[in-house]
Amino acid sequence: MTSRISLKAAAKINLYLEITGNRADGYHDLVMILQSIDLCDRVDIRKIGTDEIQILCTNPEVPCDRSNLAYKAAALMQSVYPEIGGMEIAIDKKIPMGAGLAGGSANAAAVFVGIDRLWDLGLTQSQLCDFAAQLGSDIPFCVSGGTALATGRGEVLSPLPDLIDLVLVICKPRQIAIATAWAYQTFRKQELLATSQVKNQNLSSQIVAAIASGGESAPHKIGRLLYNDLERVVLPEYPAIAELKNKLLDQECLGAMMSGSGSTVFAIAPDLDRAQQIAEAVRTDDIDVWVVKSLVRSIFDA
Ligand code: C5P
Repeated sequence: MTSRISLKAAAKINLYLEITGNRADGYHDLVMILQSIDLCDRVDIRKIGTDEIQILCTNPEVPCDRSNLAYKAAALMQSVYPEIGGMEIAIDKKIPMGAGLAGGSANAAAVFVGIDRLWDLGLTQSQLCDFAAQLGSDIPFCVSGGTALATGRGEVLSPLPDLIDLVLVICKPRQIAIATAWAYQTFRKQELLATSQVKNQNLSSQIVAAIASGGESAPHKIGRLLYNDLERVVLPEYPAIAELKNKLLDQECLGAMMSGSGSTVFAIAPDLDRAQQIAEAVRTDDIDVWVVKSLVRSIFDA
C-alpha cells in the first residue's frame, strides 16, 4: 500500500480582477481571470502511525500550526473521512508569502488532492472543489488550475481555453507582504465601488475573447487588457509597488499588473529572451524575480 505522495502545487496570477459588489457576508463579488504559473511548491504527504497532522516547511516564516491552510485542509478531510489516519505534510516553499500568488491556497489544494489519492477516496474534481471552497476563495482554482474565469467570491469557476507558453516575469518586493483582507476592506471603506473604472466596459469579455483567439497575437491583446481593482488601494499605500510596475512598463513588455492583493507585480513578455532582459533590468537586492511560463494545470506529480 502506498504510504506517501509528492506533488507540485502551482502559484497563480490574476490577469484580471474586478470587484463588482459588496456582499452581506463581508466578502466581495468578483470577476477574475486566473492563470496557473510555473512557480511551484513541493508538498510531500506521508502517512504516520498516529492521528496527528504534522506540518513542516522549509520557510521558517510559515506558521506550522493549526493556522496553516495545509493543516486546515487535512483536518477538514479527517473530520469528513474519519478512517484517514494522521500524516506529515512537508512543504518545500518556493512561492513567496503575502504575494498575491495564492501560495498558501496552493498548498491546501495539494493536500486535498494528495489525501484523495493517498487514501483512494475516489473524489471527483467538483467534490474536491467543494471542500476547497470551504477553506478559501482561491483554493478551488488551485485544485483545478490552468486558465479560468472565476466569479462569486472567486470559487465559481468556468474553464477557459489553455494559454500555452505565456511568458511572464514575476517580481516580488522582498520587504512587502500584503494581507488580502486588508486590501479588500480598504477598498470597501474607501467606497471605491461607486467610482468603478471599468463598469459597463465589458473588459472581462474582451480579455476572455483575447484568450479564446489564441495564436501569436493573444499575449499582445491580453497584455493591453490586464486589470486589477485592488491596485487602487495598494499602489497609493505602497509607492514601491507602483514604481516597480512603472519600471516594468518601461521595459517594452506587453503589459504589467499587480497580482491579486499584491505585492507581486508581473509583466507579460513577447518571448523568453526579452523576459530575461526585463528580469535583469528590474532585479535588485530588494526584488525577487522569476521568469516563468503559464501552466495548463496546477497540481502534478513532483
Ligand atoms: O477566502 P479567503 O480566506 O482567501 O479570503 C481572504 C480575505 O480576503 C477574506 O477574509 C476577505 O476579507 C477578503 N476577500 C473578499 N472577497 C473575496 C475574497 C476575499 O473580501 N471575494
